[in-house]
Amino acid sequence: MTSVHDIITADPAASCDVELVKGPWEFDTIPGYGPGCSEDDVIPEPVVRPGQLPAAYQKMSDDELHARIRAAKETLGNKLVILGHFYQRDEVIQHADFVGDSFQLANAALTMPDAEAIVFCGVHFMAETADILARPEQHVILPNLAAGCSMADMADEDTVEACWEELMDIYGSEPDADGKQPVIPVTYMNSSAALKAFCGRNGGIVCTSSNASTVLEWAFERGQRVLFFPDQHLGRNTAKAMGITMDQMPMWNPRKPLGGHTEEVLLDAKVLLWHGFCSVHKRFTVGQIKKAREEFPGVKIIVHPEAPMPVVDAADASGSTDAIRKFVEASQPGDTIAIGTEVNMVNRLAAEYPDRTIFCLDPVVCPCSTMYRIHPGYLAWTLDGLVEGEIRNEIIVDGDTATYAKVALERMLSALPKAAPVIGD
Ligand code: 13P
Ligand code: SF4
Repeated sequence: MTSVHDIITADPAASCDVELVKGPWEFDTIPGYGPGCSEDDVIPEPVVRPGQLPAAYQKMSDDELHARIRAAKETLGNKLVILGHFYQRDEVIQHADFVGDSFQLANAALTMPDAEAIVFCGVHFMAETADILARPEQHVILPNLAAGCSMADMADEDTVEACWEELMDIYGSEPDADGKQPVIPVTYMNSSAALKAFCGRNGGIVCTSSNASTVLEWAFERGQRVLFFPDQHLGRNTAKAMGITMDQMPMWNPRKPLGGHTEEVLLDAKVLLWHGFCSVHKRFTVGQIKKAREEFPGVKIIVHPEAPMPVVDAADASGSTDAIRKFVEASQPGDTIAIGTEVNMVNRLAAEYPDRTIFCLDPVVCPCSTMYRIHPGYLAWTLDGLVEGEIRNEIIVDGDTATYAKVALERMLSALPKAAPVIGD
């Protein structure tokens, strides 16, 4: 199988960033490089500096790294579990014990009580979630601390708290005659533990792209409206599918008083959207969908709900990464499927189902550059550490943050995803 890295290495100009061919450690000393700092995104401040990968690991051949990873797994046995998100590179996924979407990986952290170490091949907010849900004795490790999520960094605790205060001034904090709260905070899984804790403290909940509609239903049973952050697109796509109109979902601009709206608009609102977005999924366009339909009559198109609303509307279906996997699984030999999500996942599905034509809607090879920072070199280094009794790159969420974030996450875990879309729906 030709991995995304092989494709990019063969022709760096075919990718969205020629620098992707380099080892992620080559950027560790560049000012501003750090969690969430992704292609074309504003670098969040203050940036947490990742530690440097030791030179010996930077120089190792791929074969040597894979052999080390396999040997460490053999030695550690069931004391170790490696979780991998669908967007990870093939070179990393081949070592994962469990591969899934962010909802499944959060559950997986709960169901591996024997593992002393959970090595999370994904991004920072996923590892934080695993740490909150895991037993206190378990260690959660993120092989490269620079693997953040640029969207998660688009909502920070101070700004959300300031927004909340303004909303409380308008809505008050008392429930209405039906017992419904004025506003329920809902944070997408792609957010810091601090924001999950904010939701836990304020009667709110976490959602993932797989259970967002179940979560919004949960919220509307308890509240008159929802503050949804950080992803405007997931919020808009999910609310629209529930029949909420555009004028009932204003976008909150934290740089403007009242988010840039009048009191009337905010009082009429059903869903207040944050201004966050994913730099990978905002690349998908209606033009790409039109082109795919012209070139491949009968093509079925599925996109992730982080894509903008016109793209979701123009596609045949939308769903979480696992819903996309299931959509492909339920297709028939000979089918053509165009997918609007991260390219590592799309290319892996194409290799898994060679009797179907499967391709990414984006003609440019553009992996999630922060997920891509988990390189086998970091995996080998953290696993060797465990073999030597040293815990490297541990993610620890402690104190009240973990307690309240767990409240919001446990609410989320009981909000089950609805059935995934299938071809013909
Ligand atoms: P899933 O919850 O669908 O795995 O998505 C996570 C993500 O980061 C998508 O960009
Ligand atoms: Fe974050 Fe987008 Fe990467 Fe998902 S694909 S981890 S939302 S930057």
